[in-house]
Amino acid sequence: MEINQLLKKGVDLIKDREYSNPVLEATLLLAELLNVDKIYIYTHGRDKVIEPIVDKFLELMKKRASGYPFQYLINKKEFMGLDFYIEEGVLIPRSDTEILVEYVLEYIDNKYKDKPVNILDLGIGSGAIALSIAYYKRNAIVYGVDIYDTPLKVSRINKERFKLSNINLFKGDLFQGICGLNRKFHIITSNPPYIPKKDITTLQKEVKDHEPKEALDGGEDGLKFYKRIIHESKNYLMKNGLLIFEIGYDQGKQVANMMMNENFKNVQILQDLQGLDRVVLGINGKGVGIDNDFN
Ligand SMILES: C[S@@+](CC[C@H](N)C(=O)[O-])C[C@H]1O[C@@H](n2cnc3c(N)ncnc32)[C@H](O)[C@@H]1O
Repeated sequence: MEINQLLKKGVDLIKDREYSNPVLEATLLLAELLNVDKIYIYTHGRDKVIEPIVDKFLELMKKRASGYPFQYLINKKEFMGLDFYIEEGVLIPRSDTEILVEYVLEYIDNKYKDKPVNILDLGIGSGAIALSIAYYKRNAIVYGVDIYDTPLKVSRINKERFKLSNINLFKGDLFQGICGLNRKFHIITSNPPYIPKKDITTLQKEVKDHEPKEALDGGEDGLKFYKRIIHESKNYLMKNGLLIFEIGYDQGKQVANMMMNENFKNVQILQDLQGLDRVVLGINGKGVGIDNDFN
């Protein structure tokens, strides 16, 4: 079958669903299977595709038609200009999370330019936050923790993919993953699970049926992880160190208040392009060591 005919068949399978761009999805999937880029697909419509690839393509497009996330089908998601490997069992990185990463990259430039800076990311998933920081700031020494095996495996794959040596990965329940290291951090980042338990069933089908519940479920009020991290961070964050979270659009005030109640100063809420609260950050007023200690 020719590329054009096959693409049309693929698009027909998903075009009646709510997906925003069936032609692009079909093109990218076929490009992935043929190991070419999408321009090749556009410019070689009359090329013949061998049968095993035709079968595989149609099988995967049917899977997509059943609501399976596109990014898991192609095992890829672009984040901060990097192609992350992903698979079921890790959250698909969201472009909203780039706001947090961009803030941290600028903060490092302003405060620690070319000086070593210790960063801890709690709940690494695919490594979107931790590996992007390690990639763009080679003076950063990044520590990433997750409690589950798949995120750790996927982050290791991405670490190899981006050829990074300034990132260390640990398994554990939040700070328990690194408590044996006896290390203090200049910056702690986290995009923890933050959906209130009762809201999980109301999420988009693609998300609730296929993305890991453990990456979404933030307990009864969605704030369970923020409470723990803010409280426990005192033992690991240097005085004047930065704690920065991604949050749900309606959690800004609550998380900011929690931070102020635990002696964080300069607490700020950042919004995304839609004007929704997306990030909360603050500077540790108490903490251990001083922020120019490089342990
Ligand atoms: C919302 S996802 C964020 C993933 C990634 N940082 C990102 O921004 O795409 C939350 C992550 O926290 C991890 N997690 C859940 N409970 C945890 C715990 N108690 N300790 C460490 N990590 C945990 C999940 O496995 C998941 O990878």
